[in-house]
Amino acid sequence: MKNVLVIGGGGREHAVCYALSKSNKINKLFCVPGNAGIAQIATCKSLSVFDFDGVYEYIKEQNIDLVFVTPDDPLAKGMVDYLAQRGVRAFGPTAAAARLESSKAFSKEFMIRHGIPTAKSEIFDCATNAKEYLLGAEYPIVIKSDGLALGKGVIICADKAEAMQAIDDIMVNKAFGDAGNRVLIEEFLVGREVTVMAFCDGTHISIMPSSQDHKRAFDGDKGLNTGGMGAFAPSPYFTKAHCDEFMQRVALPTVSGLKSDGIEFKGVIYFGLMMTDKGVKVIEYNSRLGDPETEAVLPLLKTDLVDIVEACIDGTLDKVEVEWQDKVGFTVVIASGGYPSNVVKGYEITIGNLDGVILFHAGTAIKDGKLVTNGGRVFQLSCIADDMESARKLVYGQIDKIKFKDCRYRTDIGRV
Ligand SMILES: Nc1ncnc2c1ncn2[C@@H]1O[C@H](COP(=O)(O)OP(=O)(O)O)[C@@H](O)[C@H]1O
Ligand SMILES: [Mg+2]
Repeated sequence: MKNVLVIGGGGREHAVCYALSKSNKINKLFCVPGNAGIAQIATCKSLSVFDFDGVYEYIKEQNIDLVFVTPDDPLAKGMVDYLAQRGVRAFGPTAAAARLESSKAFSKEFMIRHGIPTAKSEIFDCATNAKEYLLGAEYPIVIKSDGLALGKGVIICADKAEAMQAIDDIMVNKAFGDAGNRVLIEEFLVGREVTVMAFCDGTHISIMPSSQDHKRAFDGDKGLNTGGMGAFAPSPYFTKAHCDEFMQRVALPTVSGLKSDGIEFKGVIYFGLMMTDKGVKVIEYNSRLGDPETEAVLPLLKTDLVDIVEACIDGTLDKVEVEWQDKVGFTVVIASGGYPSNVVKGYEITIGNLDGVILFHAGTAIKDGKLVTNGGRVFQLSCIADDMESARKLVYGQIDKIKFKDCRYRTDIGRV
C-alpha cells in the first residue's frame, strides 16, 4: 500500500486523483496544492508547485512513496530530476525530456531529425531575418514563440501585415517574455485536429483513446481561444487506419528517437495531431496530460493507474495490459463569466444532486466555510456513456444544477 502525492490543482489533477482513488494499491492520497473538490478525496497541502524544497519536506513528513507530477511548468523546471536525485519515485519527464514541450524549436528539430511528419518550419532568433522571410512566404502562416507561453504563444496570421505584427509583438515587444526570443514560422496545416496521449516508460509506449477539445470560448467555435471549454473521447476522425499510421510513423519513431538522442522520457506524451490529406502530422508535443482532454479520457481507464505509473518509472510498461472502456468519455467546462479575459473570483457556488456524472473541480476554494469560485475554469462536468448523444444528454441535463454568478458553458461540446 502506497502513499501517493499528486502535484497540481486543476480539473486535470482532480481527474488524476479520481483515477488514483479507485486504485486498491493506495494507502493515502495527497495533493499539492489541490482544490476544494480534490480535498474530498485527498489530503491537500497549500504549497507552491515550484517550492521543491517545501514539497520534499512534505514528502518526508507524510512518508510519500510515489509522486505524480502533472503540470508542465514544474516539469520544465526539473521537479522530477530534483525528486529523483533525492530518492523519491516521481512520475513525469525530466526537464531534459520535457523540452519536447517547453521548446518548440527543440521539438521541431527533433521531429525533422527522426523523420516524424510535421508542418514545414523555419526557426529564427532575429526579428529582421524573420521579417525578411515573411516577405516571400505563403499565407496563411503560423508564427510560434519557442518557449512556454500559457497556450497563447501561437498566432495564425491571415496575411503579411498580421505576420509582421506578430513578429513585432513576440520578438520586439516581448509579449511572452523570453519565450519569444526565438520563433518558428511554419506552414499552415489544414485538417481535423486530434489529440492522442500515451504513457511512456522510456522504451515502450501505450496509447490512450484519442480525443478532441474545443478551444474557443463560445458556441460554434466563436470568441477568444481558451485553455479549452470541453472535450470528448474517442475522436471520430482518428480511424483505425490513422491509428496504425500514427503508431508506425509518429509514436514509435518518437520513442526510439528520444532513446537514440539519449533522452529517457518517462511520463505522458501528448501528441497534438492534424489529420491532413497527406496523412497524420504532428502539430506539437506536450510532455504531460492535456487539460481538458484528461477529464474525458481518464474516466475510461479500467487498469489500476498506480500499476501503470509504477511500470513507467520501472521501464516495464510492456508487462502491463492497459485497458480502456469501449465507451464515450465527455466533459464540459463550467467557466466564470468573463473567462478567458476578465475573471472575477470568490462567487459562492451551489451544487444540486448530481447523478451518473462526475464533477471535477478546476478553480474552486473554500472561503469562510463556503465553496467559492477561484479561477476562470471552475468545474468540469464529465461522464462516460455508450455514445455521444447519451453523453451530451447526461451532462447537459444536469449542468444547470451547478450555480454561481455569471457562470457559463458551451452548449455544443461533442458536436463536430
Ligand atoms: N502548422 C499549423 N497549422 C495549422 N494550425 C496550427 C499549426 N500549428 C498550430 N496550429 C493551431 O494552433 C494551436 C496552438 O498551437 P500549438 O502548437 O498546439 O501550441 P500551444 O498549444 O503551445 O499554444 C493548435 O492547437 C492548432 O489549432
Ligand atoms: Mg497545443
